[in-house]
Amino acid sequence: MSGFGWASTTDEVLAGKDLSGRTVFITGANSGLGQETARAMASKGAHVVMAGRDQHKLDAAVAAIRETLPKAQLDTLTVDLGSLESIRAATSRARQAFPRIDLLINNAGVMATPFEHTADGFERQFGTNHLGHFALTAELMPAIERGHLKRIVNLSSRGHFMGQVDFDDPNFTRRPYDPWASYGQSKTANVLFTVGLEQRFAVLGIHAYAVHPGGIETNLGRYMTPEMREGLMKRVSSSDTGFAWKTIPQGAATSCWAATADELEGCGGVYCEDCHVAEVDDENPKEGVRSYAVNRSYADRLWKLSEELTGAQFPS
Ligand SMILES: NC(=O)c1ccc[n+]([C@@H]2O[C@H](COP(=O)([O-])OP(=O)(O)OC[C@H]3O[C@@H](n4cnc5c(N)ncnc54)[C@H](OP(=O)(O)O)[C@@H]3O)[C@@H](O)[C@H]2O)c1
Repeated sequence: MSGFGWASTTDEVLAGKDLSGRTVFITGANSGLGQETARAMASKGAHVVMAGRDQHKLDAAVAAIRETLPKAQLDTLTVDLGSLESIRAATSRARQAFPRIDLLINNAGVMATPFEHTADGFERQFGTNHLGHFALTAELMPAIERGHLKRIVNLSSRGHFMGQVDFDDPNFTRRPYDPWASYGQSKTANVLFTVGLEQRFAVLGIHAYAVHPGGIETNLGRYMTPEMREGLMKRVSSSDTGFAWKTIPQGAATSCWAATADELEGCGGVYCEDCHVAEVDDENPKEGVRSYAVNRSYADRLWKLSEELTGAQFPS
């Protein structure tokens, strides 16, 4: 047991940790959980590369962090995870500027968007939440291999309960679009990607962890209509889920824990929530990870599909 739990905060989880001399790369670092993860890690001496798609928002997030940590070592990198061209350009700049990355936190995400497509024609949630991070990680892998900590954290969600990956129609070309099935698919993909990374790179000492942060009020809900919000709240707060909101520092705590906990050393490929490794469970509405999200053959299938769709190649 970690000694941390549902209510633990980023600062509690990182107490006693020293991240000086370590480079942490965080996507979606200009908002919500990503910004708080950046602040907390910078407060422990890490050099944080804050990636986001809008330089003005990144500048505002840097300024907000520097209000309490004037000496924080922060860099920014603009990348749109909805464009393979943007990912290739940004990672090429990143490889020059940051030859060693110790921790990669794939945190950016969109939820319940209308039926839209990325620049490369992928359905937006699958394209941004999974395929964008798949391509980004492939390009950053040489820098992670050179890192000392060698961990990758993929932000998933309990939302993975809402959908498996449809390997025959991931982009909703033949089935009716449903924003929740799509979010669920993308968040299941985040866990399967974690399993796939672990299968391939544990041998090099690189380990991957999927995280459900909890329910936290951030900008993530911006695409929901009032009716969708009402339906979601009805679903998550029904009596059998025991739902309660976390604060942002509580929400980002599991990412910080997965990235640094000593007890996780060498044992990735798992899904973490409330600062512990979740059980595989296909029934429990309150916690756990569904078996389809940690299925090794699905992880392989998703890996191959993601390579085909993005053209990204991990070093072998
Ligand atoms: N909040 C929750 O209750 C909750 C629950 C479960 C899982 N999660 C997961 O936690 C992660 C962080 O979410 P959050 O709650 O902190 O939401 P948030 O405040 O909306 O932050 C999401 C971040 O992702 C960035 N992003 C979105 N699309 C992008 C793109 N195409 N390219 C680059 N960056 C992009 C956003 O940038 P812009 O500001 O430019 O849009 C923002 O920085 C997500 O993966 C989410 O699925 C959150």
